Amino acid sequence: MIFYFSGTGNSAWVARQLARLTGDVAYDITNLNEQPDMANAKQIGFVFPVYAWGVPEIMAEFVKTLPKTQAFTFGICTCGGDAGRTMKRFSKLYPLSSSYSLLMPNNYIISSEPDGEDEILRKITAAREELDRIAQELRRQVRVYRVHEGALAGVKSHLVNFGFNKFARSTKSFFVEDSCNGCGQCARNCPASAISLRDGMPVWAAQCCQCLRCINECPQQAIQYGTSTAGRRRYTIRAYLPQDEQI
Ligand SMILES: Cc1cc2nc3c(=O)[nH]c(=O)nc-3n(C[C@H](O)[C@H](O)[C@H](O)COP(=O)(O)O)c2cc1C
Ligand code: SF4
Ligand code: SF4
Repeated sequence: MIFYFSGTGNSAWVARQLARLTGDVAYDITNLNEQPDMANAKQIGFVFPVYAWGVPEIMAEFVKTLPKTQAFTFGICTCGGDAGRTMKRFSKLYPLSSSYSLLMPNNYIISSEPDGEDEILRKITAAREELDRIAQELRRQVRVYRVHEGALAGVKSHLVNFGFNKFARSTKSFFVEDSCNGCGQCARNCPASAISLRDGMPVWAAQCCQCLRCINECPQQAIQYGTSTAGRRRYTIRAYLPQDEQI
């Protein structure tokens, strides 16, 4: 079984593609009504995005509730650049036999322009090849640590990640423009239930997990974050997937 969390679809696609290759079942942790029975699982995997060189809190809290088993365990973090010590920190929460990072299109549009079309397609093509390789290694249950940690990994995964979780997850910079038609998609799809509609317009709770699904996937592109996102492209993997791989 593979448990995943995903904001804009990269990690969902990775988890589901891998499940197809390995015969596993992929579960979105935000849609689980009850914990699947893990007692007889031969293999347990986790897929999630890197947030500020660390594990998203929603995934960290989820794995803390899971029983430890004798199964072969693996984790894959998807990232736009480098992962720092994310997987080592995850392993402290839930021990992993194998750890990987997988380069995917960058969805962090509040910080910088997302990847261009060519780069997005190049990353997805390379990810398909890497997923084939990972699936082969999982079938053989060889222990692997293939994580692109990048420079200053320790500093980023400790100090910067601490700062992100403490100060950067405020929603106060989100706002909507007049093009919002009140469709409610952002509120329905927020994995942290941090958006509600007031008088037909979205309002944000004080904090969220900053997955950026709302701003990237609003059909009207009506959501902005401070002054940084006006005119910037939006990103969701859904726009780049063939019909039979839609998530
Ligand atoms: C809040 C936030 C922080 C991020 N931090 C990093 C980072 O530290 N390193 C990195 O390479 N990518 C970072 N990214 C990019 C995402 O990890 C990457 O695009 C990921 O594949 C998105 O997965 P998803 O589509 O499943 O949400 C960040 C994205 C967000 C939204
Ligand atoms: S998804 Fe976009 S258009 Fe729909 S309610 Fe939210 S902000 Fe408005
Ligand atoms: S408010 Fe937006 S960025 Fe925050 S968790 Fe919800 S969908 Fe993600």
